[in-house]
Amino acid sequence: MAALAPAPPPRGTMDYSSFKDAERSGWNERAAVYESHTALATLQIAPAMLDALRLRPGMRLLDVACGTGNVAAAASALGCEACGIDFAPAMIAQAKARFPGTVFQEGDAEALDFDEASFDAVSNNMGLFHVSDTALALSEARRVLVPGGRFSFSQWAAPEESDLYRMLFSIIPRVADMTRADPAPDAYALSDPAAAQGMLRNAGFDAVETRRLDTVLLANGPDFFEFFLNFGVRVPLIVQAQDPDVQDQLRREINAAVQPYQTPQGYEVPMPSLLYTGQKPC
Ligand SMILES: C[S@@+](CC[C@H](N)C(=O)[O-])C[C@H]1O[C@@H](n2cnc3c(N)ncnc32)[C@H](O)[C@@H]1O
Repeated sequence: MAALAPAPPPRGTMDYSSFKDAERSGWNERAAVYESHTALATLQIAPAMLDALRLRPGMRLLDVACGTGNVAAAASALGCEACGIDFAPAMIAQAKARFPGTVFQEGDAEALDFDEASFDAVSNNMGLFHVSDTALALSEARRVLVPGGRFSFSQWAAPEESDLYRMLFSIIPRVADMTRADPAPDAYALSDPAAAQGMLRNAGFDAVETRRLDTVLLANGPDFFEFFLNFGVRVPLIVQAQDPDVQDQLRREINAAVQPYQTPQGYEVPMPSLLYTGQKPC
């Protein structure tokens, strides 16, 4: 199956700084519409994530790549001392405005600004595959955890198992010039449970568990393509790098392909996810 980004080179040989800058700008631009787009999907994961972390009142939670703050705020509602960090200032501004009782600050998943062993639990809901160096972000999560603390992150399932991404993969690499996108890390490297579990163990976690969740993309109608341009950042970066006629063809083909998933409100497209959890050894 063709990839939705240029093939990533061997680790350590590629400079992803342009991708990282584009990601940060892309999420800043989407912060104001995040709740009506992306959060409708990512929120479906939050209850299982809080459960996997075994959160209890009084526990200190760090929510990495917190976006507009939903996971950290849910942990606060459980009585935890929650702190959310995100590298997009507009996301942090939204989170602070929505949840004044929870602490939010700008920060990078690859360089957490906290001392060793400062949190009882760390979460990362659909943020890990956006970072440039996954192994570094995993080792940072482990560093700030107390011994025995749990880390949980989520990931979209691979295109072969996902109606949404199978549909997009069947259209975009055929229609678009994929070489126009900035080099980006493989968005589905963590969709292989064996590989993701291996990365968690290599980062020093044990008691590794995987759950599969039947998440769906909920899109307001009628223009699915327009909705999807606000849903994420990676695919829009590819789309926006194309000539106008190619963008029009992508819009036509994607909007036609999504018709079987129409609902009275818009579209509901299966997009399963994986929830991984590991524990820092005691
Ligand atoms: C799909 S959103 C997930 C937001 C939130 N966790 C949720 O549950 O909806 C991905 C988030 O990751 C953030 N992000 C990406 N790379 C990051 C990094 N290196 N450090 C911190 N945040 C990052 C983006 O700014 C964005 O808010």
